[in-house]
Amino acid sequence: MSLLLSPVNLAKLSLNNRVVMPPMCMYEVHEKDGEITPFHVAHYGARAIGKVGLIIIEATAVTPDGRLTDQDLGLWNDTQAQKLQELVDSLHFLGSKVGIQLNHGGRKAKDAIYPLAPSAITFSAAYQTPHEMTLDEIRQVQQAFIEATKRAVTAGVDMIELHGAHGYLINQFLSPQTNQRTDEYGGSLENRYRFVKEIIAEIRQFYQGSLWIRLSLTDYAPDDEQNSLEEWQVIGRWLEADGIDCLDISTGGVLDRTPNIPVYPGYQVPYAVALKQAVTVPVVAVGLLDNPGLCESLLQTGQVDLVAIGRGLIRNANWLADAATDLHDQEFEVFNGSYARGKK
Ligand SMILES: Cc1cc2nc3c(=O)[nH]c(=O)nc-3n(C[C@H](O)[C@H](O)[C@H](O)COP(=O)(O)O)c2cc1C
Repeated sequence: MSLLLSPVNLAKLSLNNRVVMPPMCMYEVHEKDGEITPFHVAHYGARAIGKVGLIIIEATAVTPDGRLTDQDLGLWNDTQAQKLQELVDSLHFLGSKVGIQLNHGGRKAKDAIYPLAPSAITFSAAYQTPHEMTLDEIRQVQQAFIEATKRAVTAGVDMIELHGAHGYLINQFLSPQTNQRTDEYGGSLENRYRFVKEIIAEIRQFYQGSLWIRLSLTDYAPDDEQNSLEEWQVIGRWLEADGIDCLDISTGGVLDRTPNIPVYPGYQVPYAVALKQAVTVPVVAVGLLDNPGLCESLLQTGQVDLVAIGRGLIRNANWLADAATDLHDQEFEVFNGSYARGKK
């Protein structure tokens, strides 16, 4: 049996396989209320029927002004939490583990009335200039992460992922590109880490379940204008010591630039491997990993612990069934009962 499609216990989770559906915003909330719609139920349900081991529900905002757009999901009120619970129940019924990514867009919250960021630096001409957060505002947004985590836990999710990547608020605190504060939340690496450190510490007061973070390991900026890989390894060790159970490694999004880099299958894997060398918690790779053979090789060689398939799962809800065929994995039960006759 392939490693990709075999069960695994890690990061306090018992998964049916090592395929993760990474968070992907669908912008399908049409009423601007942040609530899950029938689209989300069908969209995630199809991937659960397709046997994805862990589904991470898309970036979900912790405050209305933390949404990237008004079409995003939110988790700042109890109606949103109730609908989340119904979705989580149905995905559990279909056999997948379910997580949710909690986010605040900071300066990239396009529809925000009052966008906040560590420093008043605009992302691009298409965005408003954000307000530099006061210490009170820092506290309020941290508290919003805590309240959203409580709602997600009550809704029954198996894991929580803090969105620390792609240039959103947590990432804005971590990156010297976007954090030019002179108080205890800016300057040194330790100070820039403080915003997320305090969130994690408070979550750990009431939640001992699986807590992940997604990081962008490069801003695609000149070396002397961004955290070095060594500094990210330091952050990785701090995160582990502070109670993070799994690191989900991506890149980019801090700057409004299309990086001039070769993009090939597994192009972000070296960053995940660099972090894996620094920590003992599991590490997830993502980015053009649609080829099941490539995934299997990354797992067999111990480079990473889980693989996330994003656009591949958008194109094909039955990606795992095709992976089983590619990998000649006879033991993986591709479909449940009524779907069995669809097997190739
Ligand atoms: C439509 C779409 C929406 C996305 N939304 C999110 C998101 O909500 N949170 C996040 O961390 N990444 C998001 N991403 C990035 C994906 O999670 C993933 O990292 C990226 O697509 C690379 O993986 P892939 O090559 O397998 O698609 C999104 C990507 C796509 C295509």
